[in-house]
Amino acid sequence: MKIAVAGTGYVGLVAGVCFAEKGYDVTCVDIDEKKIAMMRQGISPIYEEGLEELMQKNNERGTLHFTTDYVDAYRDADAIFIGVGTPEMPDGSANLSYIAAVSRQIAEVVEKDCLVVVKSTVPVGTNDKVEQFIKDFLVHDVKVEVASNPEFLAQGTAVHDTLYAARIIIGTQSREAEELLKKIYEPFGLPIVSVKRRSAEMIKYACNDFLALKISYMNDIANLCELVGADITDVAKGMSYDERIGARFLNAGIGFGGSCFPKDTKALKFLAREHGYQLKTVEACVDVNSTQKTRLFMKAKERMITFSGLKVAVLGLTFKSGTDDLREAPSIDNLKLLLGAGADVYAYDPKGEERAKALFPEGKTEEGTMKYVSSITEALKGANICFVFTEWAEIKAVTPEEFKENMHTPLVYDGRNLYHPAKMKEAGVEYYSIGR
Ligand code: UDX
Repeated sequence: MKIAVAGTGYVGLVAGVCFAEKGYDVTCVDIDEKKIAMMRQGISPIYEEGLEELMQKNNERGTLHFTTDYVDAYRDADAIFIGVGTPEMPDGSANLSYIAAVSRQIAEVVEKDCLVVVKSTVPVGTNDKVEQFIKDFLVHDVKVEVASNPEFLAQGTAVHDTLYAARIIIGTQSREAEELLKKIYEPFGLPIVSVKRRSAEMIKYACNDFLALKISYMNDIANLCELVGADITDVAKGMSYDERIGARFLNAGIGFGGSCFPKDTKALKFLAREHGYQLKTVEACVDVNSTQKTRLFMKAKERMITFSGLKVAVLGLTFKSGTDDLREAPSIDNLKLLLGAGADVYAYDPKGEERAKALFPEGKTEEGTMKYVSSITEALKGANICFVFTEWAEIKAVTPEEFKENMHTPLVYDGRNLYHPAKMKEAGVEYYSIGR
């Protein structure tokens, strides 16, 4: 079985590597020559636990190939997985131009019957269009079907989430396509839920938006906890024992970020509106998240006369721990506000510095100054205020005494509820978190 994978981002690359790990002959295609050259040497363009090891292993045993030559990769593939991005358009809809570009390439080069499997998150109904589009542009007399196979991996645990997924969703419109996809996934030994194509597309949005809603709900309750004198950590603990609610995704904080939840909530809201329906729950979730991101900054603003000329320690920049990704990270909104208010920001992140530098170059901006430091202590030393944006273990390990001893003014705004309020108070740290 010959598998080709279009796109080597989180979805495409991890899928390709995992298929190779299961023994398939896999060719990953990307337009970026530099990236392809790196991956041929077993270097991953993304930081993801266990990924490089599997890349190197499968490169060596010859099951994994990387190329920019899509003609060669697609021509005689049995299945072509599409894992290219569907970024957000300014109006919140999904940008399908990368999917369209790959579909057209496939149509023009396939010389044998094949199954095109869309892993990218696409609005419901897109795969019908992809199939039609490919048929419209087909050059050779072959049969091409399109299946939906949404991806549920989370960044930081992508390889594990793929090899040991809770379930595989396959959406097909024919028995042959269903059988082929089932066969491809057989070596994974995972539960398979086989549905029609549009349902598969909807499952992906319904899952992501449900989780996003869960987080926004907890953030909403957390904000109310502050007003009524309850503690969200205790509330979440109490809720977690109810199996109908579940113990995960109950952490209130600075709001969700990343490449999926922000984009997929807006995309579903847009899709509903397009069909004349208002998805009120999801719209509320988007609104709650948007104000949540800067809630702590607003709180700090109420306390301070100015941020101008103050040393602000920022601990954590990535949208969550375990990744170097900053997409939609709450830190971005806050850094804009802090720098705009004239702060001298000293930021520390164990993995995100490089990507952060592309957004906030080091040096003086019109108002404030951006500086990256290589340790937490360097960030805290002499700081007037500290913001915590990511729950990295080493940030969580900072003791109240360290804040007290290192900072000029021990004033901490914690967007991840990492520290114990009573212990911070005891050490003499003025401490604000979410919902407690
Ligand atoms: C998510 C989904 O989990 C995954 O199934 C889907 O395929 C892609 O989107 P990811 O974006 O990698 O994965 O991260 P996830 O761990 O789900 O966290 C998303 C955001 O929610 C992060 O900003 C995280 O900090 C936040 N979050 C998560 C909370 O604020 N509270 C929680 O309790 C859990």
